[in-house]
Amino acid sequence: DDAPTSFLLGETRDLISSLPSEKGWLVSQIYQFQGRWHTEALLQGILTCQKHFKAKDSDIILVTNPKSGTTWLKSLVFALINRHKFPVSSGDHPLLVTNPHLLVPFMEGVYYESPDFDFSLLPFPRLMNTHISHLSLPESVKSSSCQIVYCCRNPKDMFVSLWHFGKKLAPQETADYPLEKAVEAEVYCLTILGSCVGVLVCEPRESEQGLELKKQTEVEVKRIAEFIGCGFTAEEEVSEIVKLCSFESLSRLEVNRQGKLPNGIETNAFFRKGEIGGWRDTLSESLADAIDRTTEEKIKRVLAAE
Ligand code: A3P
Repeated sequence: DDAPTSFLLGETRDLISSLPSEKGWLVSQIYQFQGRWHTEALLQGILTCQKHFKAKDSDIILVTNPKSGTTWLKSLVFALINRHKFPVSSGDHPLLVTNPHLLVPFMEGVYYESPDFDFSLLPFPRLMNTHISHLSLPESVKSSSCQIVYCCRNPKDMFVSLWHFGKKLAPQETADYPLEKAVEAEVYCLTILGSCVGVLVCEPRESEQGLELKKQTEVEVKRIAEFIGCGFTAEEEVSEIVKLCSFESLSRLEVNRQGKLPNGIETNAFFRKGEIGGWRDTLSESLADAIDRTTEEKIKRVLAAE
């Protein structure tokens, strides 16, 4: 653990070059590690996270699949835990001027960009997010009593969302990646985000509860608050936070329309439609069936591995 970062990076590079790899869509090469496909950058971040991250019982970790609602969940939980420090009614809430991804660090992204990043410097309670699958989470996360809020979404909506996001991120030469090819690539686990679609099975913990955030947002946000230890009193209103974090409010803010994250991604790429079942506008029946089949296969594979 005390090895200098440069040594660890060398070790990491050796490990990565020994993994199965394939050509990606958004990056030239992707690598398979512990059942999922990753870019080299995020894989470096995951390996550093596995090696260095020490969870605390008070931590709150948002575990999401890409395009499952990470931006929304980040904004909601940030607003919940900071509601006394930053009352929504004050009119100068950090979410009004800062993209949610800059308020809640993305663990493997931060570790990729700064392998020596000191997570102990984050304010209490530490709030972080990751796309790391349960299998690959750092041991200390699994053994601690930290709170994990896991978010999942209909795989077809996630897929369509990812395809649109990918088109925005892709280099110009490959931006017009055909939808059919993307579905096929997903079937063979060759997209940049690999097997994210369909890996919906989160290891249940004793306290696991299923919520339907989109259907009854206020009720569910209160349940999340309760779960992470900052429940609402009978007099407290949750509606202001729900409104602040809604798709309509966040997507209209200047910072989310015109901003750019330090990694170059334009903040508006995280806001598209924010609807349930929107996949019907994009996917033909046969493509939808192909994704359903992949999802079922992946769930079976995950369950069989447990
Ligand atoms: P669509 O592309 O289907 O519109 P992630 O945040 O995990 O990257 O997921 C992005 C998806 O969440 C996008 O879905 C985006 O529009 C939607 N989204 C972003 N912010 C949202 C919010 N505040 N409320 C509801 N959905 C939101």
